[in-house]
Amino acid sequence: MTANLFTPYQLNETLTLQNRILMAPLTRCMADNDLVPTQQMADYYARRAQAGLIISEAVIIRPDGQGYPNTPGLFTPEQIKGWRVVTDAVHQQGGKIFAQLWHTGRVAHPHFFGGDSGEGDVLSASDVAIEGSVPRMRELTYQTPTPASIAQINQLIADYAQAAANAIDAGFDGVEIHGANGYLIDQFLHYDSNRRQDEYGQTPENMSRFALEVVDAITSRIGADRTALRLSPGAYFNMQVDARDRDVFDYLLDQLASRKLAFLHVGIFDDAMQFEHLGGRASDYMRKQYPHTLVGVGSFSAQTGSEAIANNRFDLLAIGRPFIANPDYVEKVQSGAELVEYSETMLAELV
Ligand code: FNR
Repeated sequence: MTANLFTPYQLNETLTLQNRILMAPLTRCMADNDLVPTQQMADYYARRAQAGLIISEAVIIRPDGQGYPNTPGLFTPEQIKGWRVVTDAVHQQGGKIFAQLWHTGRVAHPHFFGGDSGEGDVLSASDVAIEGSVPRMRELTYQTPTPASIAQINQLIADYAQAAANAIDAGFDGVEIHGANGYLIDQFLHYDSNRRQDEYGQTPENMSRFALEVVDAITSRIGADRTALRLSPGAYFNMQVDARDRDVFDYLLDQLASRKLAFLHVGIFDDAMQFEHLGGRASDYMRKQYPHTLVGVGSFSAQTGSEAIANNRFDLLAIGRPFIANPDYVEKVQSGAELVEYSETMLAELV
């Protein structure tokens, strides 16, 4: 019933996946205090190497991108070395792994990067703060971000490209740029968070500029065949919907169509969600606007994901929470074995 999930899929001339099941990026906050991946993380990923492709938990490109405790980085030699242990372990088991490159923008908190004073600048497209506090750290309320200057934008782009090069040095098969879920790149793509008056704001072309510059800097460094991008046109997380966002994503997806990326990936928790400004599901909208490989995700079972692929709604299926609960997810689905149900208590431990 799910046989189409177990057919190989050629992303491009460089990369062919052994099946169509991806492990979705899942932040676990288990790196050490220098944001270096641990041996435990290597074991965790190696146990899931049967996935056609693992996308790592989001990895911060530089210190001021950090918004949660113990999220791993890719900007120091020790972090690169730590990731090398992870990628070797996955490759030894016959798997493939991309690094998800992350800057949280206005979701960052100087508690994590401001040194002893715990103070520092949080960068975003504009000076629009999100409400609330860092999850499980209630004393850390979000601060009003500083709109990135042109010089700061150029530095961010350079730092994304360097992190991508570091990912290749660390043995990753490629990178997925985290352009989704209300983080830095997404903050430029929505009217709610982008109030800029310069060439990075006000029009779809301008609001897409930062995302496209990051994509172009990374692809010229490591190749488009090893570069993917996650986007959430629905603005469902840390972001307010504005119907005009649709025009931004229409423009952006059109521009991306000619860039020969490895794939685009929908950023969403439940793909049944309907968005009025997109005319329905985020995945269906992206499928319509973008003619190449699309990864669907969001509360799918192997069965419903397989049906979606059969109906040509997307090409590859990413699985998140069930992969936390079942390290042997691929084998279990293939053999028809019963799955362990995910629960949030599983996040306390890396198994
Ligand atoms: C996530 N998700 C996520 N997305 C992302 O782009 N980068 C990340 O680091 C994370 N981290 C993360 C942690 C945890 C604990 C959860 C539950 C989710 C979203 C994830 O990739 C996926 O889109 C959703 O989990 C929906 O897929 P499932 O779980 O329904 O298969």
